[in-house]
Amino acid sequence: MQDAPHEPTPSTIGQTMRAIVQDRYGSIADLRVANVPCPTLSDDEVLVKVMATSVHADVWHVVTGRPRILRLLGNGVFRPRRRVPGTDLAGIVCAVGNGVAEFQPGDAVFGEALLGMQWTNGGTYAQYAAANVRALAKMPDNVSFEQAAAVPTAGYIALLNLTGAVEIAPAHEVLINGAGGAVGGIALQYAKSRGARVTAVEHTSKLDFVRQLGADDALDYTKSELDGCATRFDVILDVASTMPTKLWSRLLAPGGKFVLIGHDHYGAKRRPWLGELPTMFSLMFRSIFDKRLPMNFAMPEKKDVMETLRTLLQSGQLRAPIGRLFPLERAPAALEALTRGDVIGRIVLTPHGD
Ligand SMILES: NC(=O)c1ccc[n+]([C@@H]2O[C@H](COP(=O)([O-])OP(=O)(O)OC[C@H]3O[C@@H](n4cnc5c(N)ncnc54)[C@H](OP(=O)(O)O)[C@@H]3O)[C@@H](O)[C@H]2O)c1
Repeated sequence: MQDAPHEPTPSTIGQTMRAIVQDRYGSIADLRVANVPCPTLSDDEVLVKVMATSVHADVWHVVTGRPRILRLLGNGVFRPRRRVPGTDLAGIVCAVGNGVAEFQPGDAVFGEALLGMQWTNGGTYAQYAAANVRALAKMPDNVSFEQAAAVPTAGYIALLNLTGAVEIAPAHEVLINGAGGAVGGIALQYAKSRGARVTAVEHTSKLDFVRQLGADDALDYTKSELDGCATRFDVILDVASTMPTKLWSRLLAPGGKFVLIGHDHYGAKRRPWLGELPTMFSLMFRSIFDKRLPMNFAMPEKKDVMETLRTLLQSGQLRAPIGRLFPLERAPAALEALTRGDVIGRIVLTPHGD
């Protein structure tokens, strides 16, 4: 249940607010708390009192500026142009832009602050954030702000990769490698909602967790259990980006599709300049002649994805178990916890207290 009242909040435009500020790329420890001006609104934006915002891999990428190539994709080459991190939020609308008709002050909403991809700071690690209405949806009334905030960015990546060129149909065998993380957890539940049978691959400590999310089989990557798997899959989603071509080729059923998300394990793959991009570009090139690799160039509208996520949450087919809450001021500790990988479930910041 939602745990904060939905009464209209007075507009804060012209006032200051507490936020996490990133002055440079590099260390998570360089993030600092500061008082900054509340955002002003464009015509198609609303001002949201941020009740919760999620901690995820792409925030880590932008804060550290790694891999370096991502700095060319909009957030500033030498230093971050937008200084407040965070991409997704759940909270209460407290002011609306001149062109906004679909939301009004007092509405509980969830979604993303930005319309584009997430390799830029979106400004949600703050008490208030401006968000484009085309990336928002009204919050279902059966989830908390924390749960709702854990869904938008990871959910967009999951659905971007599992709709369009890839379709999951009832009785499909689906393999999700890294199913206990942010993207994998939503992908797993989405596949189950489509009637698929899901095999999840995860660390020993997360096998019960993925079963609770609905996995039919759970395989331990620390014991290389996938290597002996006899199932043939219609869709393989490699979120952890650890499956060699030989392995996924053997595991695909005739007509099956392999989708790579691209995860550099918080710098552990030691590719500080290009990260996973060469692998991804190579697969994109191969997809021209290899039908097992879907060409997924069409980006779904965030509004449509948010409506799908809202419906799944409302129906109970999608859950976002929270592993750990941190107050806004402890964003660096929250990002450290994410990189250690020892929190089961999502990590969420609560800018107005928990
Ligand atoms: N989360 C988002 O909102 C978001 C948004 C846009 C893009 N992305 C991108 O999507 C990718 C995945 O993100 P994510 O947030 O889902 O990451 P995540 O939360 O770190 O999840 C990755 C999961 O894979 C598991 N794993 C590690 N090594 C494995 C292996 N060898 N075999 C199978 N599983 C393994 C991890 O377990 P351990 O704990 O044992 O390591 C973890 O549970 C990242 O590249 C990220 O940049 C994410």
